[in-house]
Amino acid sequence: MTPRLMGKTALVAGAGGALGAAIATAFAAEGVRGLLLADLAPDGLRPLRDRLAGAGHTVVTAALDVTDGEAFDEVVADAVQRWGRLDVLVNNAGVVPPNARLHNLSTEAWSSCLAVNLTGTFHGIRAAARVMREHGGAVVNTASVSAVTAWPHAGPYGAAKAGVVHLTKVAALEYAKERIRVNCVCPGAFPSAIHDGLPAGALESIASRHPLGLGRPEDVAAAIVHLASEESRWTTGHALIVDGGYSLP
Ligand SMILES: NC(=O)c1ccc[n+]([C@@H]2O[C@H](COP(=O)([O-])OP(=O)(O)OC[C@H]3O[C@@H](n4cnc5c(N)ncnc54)[C@H](O)[C@@H]3O)[C@@H](O)[C@H]2O)c1
Repeated sequence: MTPRLMGKTALVAGAGGALGAAIATAFAAEGVRGLLLADLAPDGLRPLRDRLAGAGHTVVTAALDVTDGEAFDEVVADAVQRWGRLDVLVNNAGVVPPNARLHNLSTEAWSSCLAVNLTGTFHGIRAAARVMREHGGAVVNTASVSAVTAWPHAGPYGAAKAGVVHLTKVAALEYAKERIRVNCVCPGAFPSAIHDGLPAGALESIASRHPLGLGRPEDVAAAIVHLASEESRWTTGHALIVDGGYSLP
């Protein structure tokens, strides 16, 4: 079978964590010819880059704070300058707010969560659309199952991810004529550093509410490969729930 991203160039924003590594690994295995990995903490990308480059893949890294729209444009321009075009963008950066009920939440905590998860995704879609309008492309946003189910003590996160689902649909409509497909995934829980601030035992409790158990980053990356590739060429504006059945009951 031909690798599904053969000849494509891709940028993964927020590539430094568990899901970012799984996406990068899957994209490399699917034949991307150029892969730019960007993160707020770019030093953490080195081992991943070295592993993939050591296996013969063309992988470069960049510093990027997705809350800075101009910086996002510059990283996209870097990819275009290196490889002539950008075919795929994954908006994967994410943070969770402090675990708090709404009456205890500061405006700053609310705003910073929306700035990364929602405004960062807007910056990515905008930067990608500015260059992809010439030739088409695929944008995949990482939302969350918390966009479609209510999680107490995580109000700004759910609101931001619900915003990502909505923005995905709007962008899909705005850019369909220019052959830019925009989709998102809504993952359930999988182990990653994003859960580090949870109280002891909380992840086990969350896991027990997933009929198929806790996921793995690779389970979500597989869905992202599908949405990034021509395999999903007639799918746009879709929010693909990948949650081990969490949202069913
Ligand atoms: N782990 C889960 O259970 C889960 C479930 C649903 C959705 N998600 C989403 O998956 C995505 C990846 O998260 P993960 O679980 O791998 O967590 P992670 O903490 O391992 O990775 C998140 C990455 O985002 C980067 N980041 C944070 N702020 C940034 C900024 N301003 N600019 C650029 N990069 C920034 C971090 O440096 C980190 O590398 C996130 O969007 C998250 O919301 C995770």
